[in-house]
Amino acid sequence: MDIFSPLTLGALTLRNRIIMAPMTRSRADADAVPTDIMVDYYRQRASAGLIISEGIAPSADGLGYCRTPGIYNPRQIEAWSRITSAVHAEGGSMVAQIMHVGRVANALNKPAGSETVAPSAVRARGEIYTDQGGMQAFDQPRALQLEEIPVVLEQYRSATENAFAAGFDGVELHCTSGYLPAQFLSTGSNKRDDEYGGDVVGRTRFALEALAAMASVAGAERVGMRICPDNPFNDLQDDDPQETFDYLLQRAAELDLAYLHVIRYPRGRVDNLALGQRYFGDRLIANESYSFTEAGEVIASGQVCAVSFGRHFIANPDLVERWRQHRPLADFNLETLYTRGAEGYTSYPAHAD
Ligand SMILES: Cc1cc2nc3c(=O)[nH]c(=O)nc-3n(C[C@H](O)[C@H](O)[C@H](O)COP(=O)(O)O)c2cc1C
Repeated sequence: MDIFSPLTLGALTLRNRIIMAPMTRSRADADAVPTDIMVDYYRQRASAGLIISEGIAPSADGLGYCRTPGIYNPRQIEAWSRITSAVHAEGGSMVAQIMHVGRVANALNKPAGSETVAPSAVRARGEIYTDQGGMQAFDQPRALQLEEIPVVLEQYRSATENAFAAGFDGVELHCTSGYLPAQFLSTGSNKRDDEYGGDVVGRTRFALEALAAMASVAGAERVGMRICPDNPFNDLQDDDPQETFDYLLQRAAELDLAYLHVIRYPRGRVDNLALGQRYFGDRLIANESYSFTEAGEVIASGQVCAVSFGRHFIANPDLVERWRQHRPLADFNLETLYTRGAEGYTSYPAHAD
C-alpha cells in the first residue's frame, strides 16, 4: 500500500496513512480549557490522515502537567468542538487521546481540590516542571481504594462521551509512558493485593475495563489504544513486560478495537512491533523516529497500515504536502515546545513555493 492511499480503521476514515502523533504542547488555559491558538494549531495540521490529540485528562485528578487540557466540563467540551470543527472543515479526522497521569503529577499543576492518585502509594522518582516553582518532585500518590476504581473508570467513559459530544471521530487510551493505565500494568507501581493487582490478569484489568468503558459509548470501532511495552519513561518498571502485554493484547483484540498504536522501543526486552502484529496485524499504527522513506517501506510491505509522526509535525504543519512534493522539512525550536503563546506553536509556516 502507498503511504498516501486512504485507510479505514474501524469506523475511522483516513485520507492518507500519515498520522499526527499525540503531543502535549501546554497551550491550554489555567482551567484546562483549550485556547484559540489550539484551534489554529490543529487546523494547520488537518491534512494528516488522522490527528491524534495531545493527551487530554478525563478528570481534574487526571491532570499533572502545566497548562494541559481536560474534557470533563462544558467549557472544555465547547472549546474542543471548535477544534474538531476546524479540522473537519479542512477534511481531516481527529481522535482524542484520553490521558490520566495518575502519579506523574505535581499539585502545583493541578486544580484546587484534585488529588494525585495511583494504583499504590509508590512515588515515581523524578521531577516535573511547574510554572510556579520550576522543577518539582513528583507527588506522593494516594492509593486508589477498591471502591474508587469504578469511579475512575466512569471518568474514562464520560470523557469519551464528552469527546463525541465535542465532535471527535474517536478516542485513544493512553496506555504507556508511565501514566495511570501503565501504572496498573507494571509490577513496580502496582503493589495491590486485590483484583486490580498481583498476577497479569489483575494488573491488566484496569486497562481492559477502561477500554470497555470507552467502547460502551459509541462502539469499539471508534476506540484505539497506545502502548510501548518496556518503556521506562516516568519511572515505570515491570518484571515481565512480554507476559503483561501478551495478555493485554490478547484480551484487547477480543474487543475489536479500531487500531493499536505501538511505539517501537528497540532497547527494550520486547519486540513491540512483532507483538502488535501478532494481535492487531491488520490495524497497526507504528511510531517513533520514522523517516518518510522508512514509513513508506513498512506500509508498502504490509507490516503496518499507517505510521504516526510527532516531531516532524511540529515545524511542518503541511507535512503531508511537503512529502508529496519532495520538499525539505523545517526544524523545530526545542525552547518553545511547552511555552505559552503562538511562537513556536502556530508560527511555523507552510512551505513557500
Ligand atoms: C512535545 C512532545 C509531546 C508529546 N506528548 C505526548 C502525549 O501527550 N501523548 C503521547 O502519547 N505521546 C506524546 N509524545 C510522544 C509522541 O507522540 C511520539 O511518540 C514521539 O514524538 C516519537 O515520535 P516521532 O519520532 O515521530 O517524534 C510527545 C512527544 C513530543 C515531542
